[in-house]
Amino acid sequence: MKMNTKLLHAYPVICKETGASSIPKFQASTFHQPDAFNHEGYNYTRFGNPTITAIEECIKTLEDSKYGLAFSSGMAAINAVLFLLSQGDHFILAKNIYGGTFQTIQEFLVRFGIEYTMVDESDVSAWEAAIQPNTKMIYLESPSNPLLTITDLKAVSKLAKQHDILVACDNTFMTPLGQETLPIGIDIVIHSGTKFINGHSDVIAGLVATNDEALHKQLKIHQKALGGVLAVEEGWLLLRGVKTMGLRMERSIENAQQLAEFLQTKKQVKHVYYPGLPTHPGYAIHQQQAKNGGAVLSFDLETQDQVEALFKNCKVPIVAVSLGGVESILSLPWLMSHAAMPEEERLKMGVTPTLVRLSCGIEDIEDLIADLDQAIQ
Ligand SMILES: Cc1ncc(COP(=O)(O)O)c(C=O)c1O
Repeated sequence: MKMNTKLLHAYPVICKETGASSIPKFQASTFHQPDAFNHEGYNYTRFGNPTITAIEECIKTLEDSKYGLAFSSGMAAINAVLFLLSQGDHFILAKNIYGGTFQTIQEFLVRFGIEYTMVDESDVSAWEAAIQPNTKMIYLESPSNPLLTITDLKAVSKLAKQHDILVACDNTFMTPLGQETLPIGIDIVIHSGTKFINGHSDVIAGLVATNDEALHKQLKIHQKALGGVLAVEEGWLLLRGVKTMGLRMERSIENAQQLAEFLQTKKQVKHVYYPGLPTHPGYAIHQQQAKNGGAVLSFDLETQDQVEALFKNCKVPIVAVSLGGVESILSLPWLMSHAAMPEEERLKMGVTPTLVRLSCGIEDIEDLIADLDQAIQ
């Protein structure tokens, strides 16, 4: 079965009890049991719920993985994964990551006696040089948010295997449709379901998939005990959103490619970051491990005044912190997605006050180009 068919048929999509063409919202916190010793599959929604089971089956289908878990947000999923680390452990972190991930590491992991080394994720030798006897995990995003840097996932996974280190990859930008991570050696793949998987800017959700039974069992405990389970209403919306993901992604990616090429021609644009452009330093590696350039791009303008003018004059994209919606979303990582990071760390990454991120939606490309053109002028 190919992906667009799978998105509509290859996980629970029909209610077994009634034949309803959408899995109902089992809006119940608890479930009646025939007696105190037995239950019929479910007893308490924090431990499991049929609507949430359907979305967990869905992520298994999309990732072609043995196990899948749904969380209340991408951050809840990330925290569940980072909590695999224990006091005295060391992990290696990509220099370019989502600001919220950096914040949770600073706020919790460091306080709990877990050490990390940040590396240039595009340099495999830097990952190798950072390995210590107590290194337990490698954590990365490829492409990264917001600079779209690329990590050689196969090479880093191979290195990790040689040293018995886990690799966790946040694949939010590429989605399971654009980049298969588990078959090339990633142990745990994470998605902010809030973004392209849901696709309608109306849900906060997180998803995790793995093929490793022991990891899954531990992550299931984290899901239950940390309490970051996906809410029923959100799970239902996610089930609805995911059905059109194939078509949405196709159009958004096409738009991103054309917009990246257009922006490269503008003299006011200093640099375009998009792994679908042959000028991107990670282009060759990204081509090997991904199916397309994705639907997010970033670009640098020359001055603060130009940035202000762009945000004031753009009429089609919404201005918002998020990404992955059917509508294009323009954001300023400096003040938005990466504001939680200290200024110094942002600048070290290359997140400057003139860096603009654009998540491409499914609008007509002519309107997007015309709008950006007039706003940049
Ligand atoms: C790459 C990436 N990972 C994780 C997250 C966190 O996801 P959520 O906002 O669903 O918690 C985000 C949010 O912007 C993100 O961009």
